[in-house]
Amino acid sequence: MITDQLQHLFSFPVIFNDNIAIIDDTSEHHNQSQTNNSFSEKWVKLDKESATSESEEFQKKWVLELYGFKTIEGLKTFLSDKKVIIDAGCGLGYKSAWLAELAPHATVFGIDFSEAAFVAAKRYKDIPNVFFFRGDIANLPFKKETLDFILCDQVIHHTEDPKKTFAHLASLLTPTGKFACYVYAKKALPRELVDDYFRKATHNLSHEEMWQFSDQLTELGKRLTELNVKFDCPDIPALGIKGGEYDIQRFIYWNFIKCFYHPKWTKAENDACNFDWYSPSNAERYSPGEFKQWAYDLNLKIDFFRSEEAAHTAIVCN
Ligand SMILES: C[S@@+](CC[C@H](N)C(=O)[O-])C[C@H]1O[C@@H](n2cnc3c(N)ncnc32)[C@H](O)[C@@H]1O
Repeated sequence: MITDQLQHLFSFPVIFNDNIAIIDDTSEHHNQSQTNNSFSEKWVKLDKESATSESEEFQKKWVLELYGFKTIEGLKTFLSDKKVIIDAGCGLGYKSAWLAELAPHATVFGIDFSEAAFVAAKRYKDIPNVFFFRGDIANLPFKKETLDFILCDQVIHHTEDPKKTFAHLASLLTPTGKFACYVYAKKALPRELVDDYFRKATHNLSHEEMWQFSDQLTELGKRLTELNVKFDCPDIPALGIKGGEYDIQRFIYWNFIKCFYHPKWTKAENDACNFDWYSPSNAERYSPGEFKQWAYDLNLKIDFFRSEEAAHTAIVCN
């Protein structure tokens, strides 16, 4: 069996059922458990309701920008010498499948702590070089120095102790391996305060009420976008609000409340994006310096670094 040939990568025997193995499906930490539960709800619903793959295509293009690959060819060249690849926190697994397609010589593992791992395994069962784990990316079964490329995109801030997770993943890199990681950026003060408040307040809501709240945020984003109004905002450093020309939806979005809306995405995709923000308990935000410090503390080199309003991204290596 093909999965028998993978066992040399693991520090204990990993039992696969077709293309999936369950390493761990519960967390002893309350916030991680709540986070897993919230993502299980999001992904299972989105898998059923999503009518287009517009958001997936958008996300793939964003990966090319976020980590400096620029083009698909650029990413393909980067992957050409990578044999063992993981998509740490893979959600529905479309990035794992994409990596497997761009690197047919490689073995790709998508790992998620939520039920999304099962959805991903079902979706991509016909791709021979991709496998899925349900488990915690802070505690993986790989031997040290086995991974040639780790993609941890939009995930690490959802883990129980993000800095510790980062150190664990880095310890699995081969001497020439590369680790691409994304963390949420700290935003303007009013947005941070509202986010902290709502992320706790939403715990008193059922999943159904949380979807209603997400739908209201989508509707707010839509109505603001349709106003199509731009204005010139002054710098307000005391609130962390950067001056300049803003579309009104973007101004409210970056500085006050996440009210995501993308006109080309389905309602289910837009709602899922808002649900994703306020539902999970674990969702830390960082300054560029705080993120870089994780790498410095482990004596890792930073090959690439990029900051934008939503996130900081880096590729680090030994
Ligand atoms: C915002 S989603 C991103 C999914 C995917 N990387 C993407 O970009 O589409 C974050 C994912 O991280 C997963 N996650 C959170 N904590 C995790 C952990 N400790 N181990 C594995 N997956 C985790 C969640 O279940 C969720 O699917």
